[in-house]
Amino acid sequence: MTKMLLLIASSLVMAICSSAFPASHHQQINGRYLETIVLNNTVDLDPEGTFRLDWDLVYEIPTNPLVVLEIQVQTSGWFSLRFTSTDLTLGDYFYGAYDPNKPSDNFFLDKHCQLFEGIGCETPEGPREDIRNDFQLVSFEFKSGYSMMRIARLADTGNNLQDVVITPGPMMIGWAWSAGIYNEFGLLTLIEKFGFQTVTLIE
Ligand SMILES: *[C@@H]1O[C@H](CO)[C@@H](O)[C@H](O)[C@H]1NC(C)=O
Repeated sequence: MTKMLLLIASSLVMAICSSAFPASHHQQINGRYLETIVLNNTVDLDPEGTFRLDWDLVYEIPTNPLVVLEIQVQTSGWFSLRFTSTDLTLGDYFYGAYDPNKPSDNFFLDKHCQLFEGIGCETPEGPREDIRNDFQLVSFEFKSGYSMMRIARLADTGNNLQDVVITPGPMMIGWAWSAGIYNEFGLLTLIEKFGFQTVTLIE
């Protein structure tokens, strides 16, 4: 019985690991590696320096650029970004976690939440997973107290019920991070710090 449970537990861990982080995170676009290109735009989403966002656009498709985002956040816990639709009814989230000491807890997820006048899902567990993860995981690292995760998605993913289209001009971007990943009940740990900032990702 115990052996059986162990088997189930270990295959579950393996399944979670493989779904959380794909084996190959080397994405080649236009003959360049997304992980080595220089991202020429930067903003400190947290003015106190705990959450920085670097980004750039790769025009594989002329009208629908690939938005390459790199998050540098001062935690080994989970972190998130939120894009908000202009009518304030949809929150589109990226959730990531990379703790090199607990690889089985790591994830990168595409989530969404119905908002009412921009409000809703203010808890770590609030947003639900999208039917499809439209983010590509490019690279991840933990260094000098910061998690670094580089991701990419099309400005318009085509999943418009769950993803906000990244449009030219100012957009409200939400950010949050936690000191941990999961608590003893297997739920995401509470938010340590969060905020909002208006950023022009596409001129
Ligand atoms: C960043 O700027 C450099 C120098 O102008 C340029 O070579 C590079 O292609 C830019 N990066 C992207 C992703 O466009």
